[in-house]
Amino acid sequence: MKKRVEFLRHPFLRQIKWLSLLAATLLATSAAHAQFPRTPVDPAAATGGQAIYTKDCAKCHGADGRGGSASDLVRSTVVLHDRRENLLGKELAPFLKSTPPHKFSYTDKQAQELSQYLTANINRILRSGYDDHPTHLTDGDATAGAAYFAANCAKCHSATGDMAGVGGRMSTAALQQKWLFPNTGIGKKQPVATTVTMPNGKTLTGDLVRMDDFTVTVRDKDGMTHSISRTAGVRVKTVDPYEGHYKLLDKYTDADIHNVTTYLDTLK
Ligand code: HEC
Ligand code: HEC
Repeated sequence: MKKRVEFLRHPFLRQIKWLSLLAATLLATSAAHAQFPRTPVDPAAATGGQAIYTKDCAKCHGADGRGGSASDLVRSTVVLHDRRENLLGKELAPFLKSTPPHKFSYTDKQAQELSQYLTANINRILRSGYDDHPTHLTDGDATAGAAYFAANCAKCHSATGDMAGVGGRMSTAALQQKWLFPNTGIGKKQPVATTVTMPNGKTLTGDLVRMDDFTVTVRDKDGMTHSISRTAGVRVKTVDPYEGHYKLLDKYTDADIHNVTTYLDTLK
């Protein structure tokens, strides 16, 4: 130890030590700067983008973009490139249109809003100190979350009934995904009750398997599947038990999501 101090006392070596420290600092700052310049964000556009993100992306990339079943977008080169070059979605839009599993056709305005939201989100996460694990999901305000639940969820759920113990049944990340998108991820999924009425008035009822503009596929109560062409005169009526959830998706703010997850996690 003593020897080392002595060694560093040599003026030339001391200079090298400080120079290398200085160089390392400069490199670190310029690297950080090159990767994360401050990109200005239009708050109104970012809010629009957040709605799109929550509806279309969060179920796979996580409520805050830090990853779920799909990767962390905070470190995505596509997103960072968009942000760094201020591309406002010009490359993101074609990516989201043609790179499986994505098949989103966004207008220029929507792509711009998504870009602004992703940029704002990265700025925010970097400011708050980024880490790889979703550890901040439950540091919201549980009391506010309980109030939100009472106002928006309690007509269909009960904290002492079907939601009792929900916080103990799954990891926090899974819990957040489950209440935002209850028909995805682990656990039960309720079928969409479907009635197809043929031109001759005959009806077929069952659970929806798949539907697009051309065909509707239904599984009847005996487990048989039927595919019917959606020609003129064929009417399809569906009752999706998750309709109430889809409607709420447009309303959640970041804070609501944070608070409700924190609250649900206390139901153990
Ligand atoms: C059905 C799940 C799913 C949805 C929904 C989804 N993604 Fe992805 N995304 C993936 C998968 C899978 C990959 C490729 C593998 C990975 O990164 O995990 C990916 C990759 C990406 C990448 C490239 C990541 C990189 O490494 O650079 C970006 C950017 C991206 N998604 C953005 C979005 C945006 C924005 C939305 C919403 C408009 C969205 N995704 C919706 C599943 C999804
Ligand atoms: C209009 C009715 C309705 C509203 C409002 C509603 N939900 Fe649901 N929710 C459902 C239905 C129906 C299901 C599927 C039934 C089931 O799986 O128990 C469901 C499923 C869930 C699940 C998954 C349950 C499980 O064990 O798999 C969670 C968690 C959940 N909702 C939380 C919430 C929260 C939190 C809110 C408020 C922000 C909310 N729901 C608002 C109807 C609603």
